[in-house]
Amino acid sequence: MRSKVTVVGAGNVGATAAQRIFDKGYADVVLVDIVEGLPQGKALDMLESGPVTGTDAKVTGTNSYDETADSDVVVITSGIARRPGMSRDDLLLTNMKIVSSVVEEVANRSPNAHLLIVTNPLDAMAQRAFQVSGFPKNRVFGMAGILDTARFRTFLAEELDVSVNSVEAYVLGGHGDSMVPVTGSTTVGGTPIGKLLSQDRVDAIVKRTQDGGAEIVNLLKTGSAYYAPSAAIAQMVEAILFDKKEILPCTALLEGEYGLNGLYVGVPVKLGANGIEEIIEVDLTDDETAALKSSADAVQELIDVMANAAD
Ligand code: APR
Repeated sequence: MRSKVTVVGAGNVGATAAQRIFDKGYADVVLVDIVEGLPQGKALDMLESGPVTGTDAKVTGTNSYDETADSDVVVITSGIARRPGMSRDDLLLTNMKIVSSVVEEVANRSPNAHLLIVTNPLDAMAQRAFQVSGFPKNRVFGMAGILDTARFRTFLAEELDVSVNSVEAYVLGGHGDSMVPVTGSTTVGGTPIGKLLSQDRVDAIVKRTQDGGAEIVNLLKTGSAYYAPSAAIAQMVEAILFDKKEILPCTALLEGEYGLNGLYVGVPVKLGANGIEEIIEVDLTDDETAALKSSADAVQELIDVMANAAD
């Protein structure tokens, strides 16, 4: 029997993620949105691509949650996206309400599902989903580190004129301006980047990575990135459904790791059939540890705002 993946939010990120997952044919996909006709139309269009791509999986669109029952993975992308001049944090209270209501709907219909949170501000939304669902921490996590790391790797590969596959890097921390590209352990074909690039160039690429989302928002003007985010979602879904035990940077609940407690932050994890099977503690320099701490502080501020708003 094929696995079942629900994608909530049939906008740019959700629909593109649904398409990437459907195209591979390993899971039936349910696409949910509040806008009448939108998920149905996109799902039908996708389904009709099956004879061309050779995909026998099913994809359905709906405005209700009954069709999502017994999903293996629920990807949550519903919410508002950034426009020029907005930070991810500006989305906080609107998206908090949307994510809370969606999690309530999906959690009791798919009590064994993995919840993959994509709605921004991502780390705070993952924390919210964890609280509302009551699911164990290994089954509630967020997508951000793969995307931020992919941006970092793209810029480094371009700068050094090498394959993206030869660049090994991690971006940790919250999915915000204070994210932490771990330059100390970034290598290209095994050589540390410090030996290949000047500190000025490394700093410029780190800055471009941190502003990577805003760069796209400023170009698109009416929305935010979705091709790279949806690719990252599909990679996480595959790691879970195929029990790959892949080491990937994801947003996970830390309980003492990296000196942080009770907070969702981006760190390398082992992702497999049991979701987050392990949090990997990589060596960080003192500067990187301090940067991770201040990135975590920024996430904590959002959690505090949400707690006050909920009072
Ligand atoms: N239930 C279901 N769907 C909802 C709800 C809800 N309560 N509220 C909003 N939506 C839907 C919208 O109707 C829209 O189709 O979520 C979709 C969001 O799509 P886009 O506006 O295209 O936004 P997108 O670019 O997909 O980004 C979605 O992911 O990367 C993050 O910052 C981004 O938070 C944003 C989210």
